[in-house]
Amino acid sequence: MTDTRRHLLAMDDVGADDIERILETAAGFEDVVERDVKKVPTLRGRTVVNLFYESSTRTSASFELAAKRLSADVVSVKAAGSSVDKGESLKDTISTLNAYRPNIIVIRHPQIGAAQLTARWSDAHVVNAGDGKHQHPTQCLLDLYTIRKRLGRLDGVKVAIVGDVLHSRVARSNIAGFQLMGLDVTLVGPPALIPPGIAEATGVRIAEDPAAIGDADVVYVLRMQHERMEPGQNHVPSLREYASVWGVTARRLRPGQVVMHPGPMNRGVEIAPDVADSSASLIGEQVEAGLVVRMAVLYDLMTRPGVGGVIDLHERTAERGAA
Ligand code: NCD
Repeated sequence: MTDTRRHLLAMDDVGADDIERILETAAGFEDVVERDVKKVPTLRGRTVVNLFYESSTRTSASFELAAKRLSADVVSVKAAGSSVDKGESLKDTISTLNAYRPNIIVIRHPQIGAAQLTARWSDAHVVNAGDGKHQHPTQCLLDLYTIRKRLGRLDGVKVAIVGDVLHSRVARSNIAGFQLMGLDVTLVGPPALIPPGIAEATGVRIAEDPAAIGDADVVYVLRMQHERMEPGQNHVPSLREYASVWGVTARRLRPGQVVMHPGPMNRGVEIAPDVADSSASLIGEQVEAGLVVRMAVLYDLMTRPGVGGVIDLHERTAERGAA
């Protein structure tokens, strides 16, 4: 039987037309979230499972709410407190949840490739909500939505992604999606936190001088991701020094620039508190966009059945898996 499921696993698999369609659908959901009764019957009778093996506030809350706004039945499973604590493997957990016949599984997991395995081991459409330092595609989509809403365009927008790119799945998804939509991406940070070979692989520019953020329309700040750093590896001499050299402070910004951060923030490390709370900050807008964009992704996966016109061609993913 032909597998007609569609997944959102990585931004590298998504086309510009897919992104356009999802951003447009998301804009259409804005009025739903403003209404008194914030619900549409679109996914009534469908089941969405959210399976989170890593900490999350924004992503898990917005996926759950997005599914509920669309009237789906939602089951949210956190690894802590589930049978994962008792040693159940990812494969067994997926096949257990698959027995409830979910239409969509949203998964966050510390291991690269976990979402792709979930697609292999279940019968559901799968959305990657973050796999290790690999990909976080819905973050990229909501960031594109936020940039277009504020700046009115995507093509030609200059973005500086600042900080711990090495451990960041957000950076990897954003580089792919931003370039696809014509944004001009520069990575700014200490060489120890920039993945080797990334300029050659993707065509981004790299700046080792913090002053380079002055050229950007959008300053996209990344968190220092201690949980993904190898024990004993000192990527930066100290957080204090990192903050003083690379921290995005009001002094380093020029009028007209906007600042973004995927959250959670380490205020006073990668971003100064007054910058986070300033009118240049789009951080609140990013959180709001997360809801409508995730509604759009769930809607898109469920309402465009069949092979072709897909978010992530399953065939392509399957080929890569087999290779
Ligand atoms: C990001 C993540 O988990 O990848 N957060 C998020 O989803 N908003 C970024 C981070 O943890 O720094």
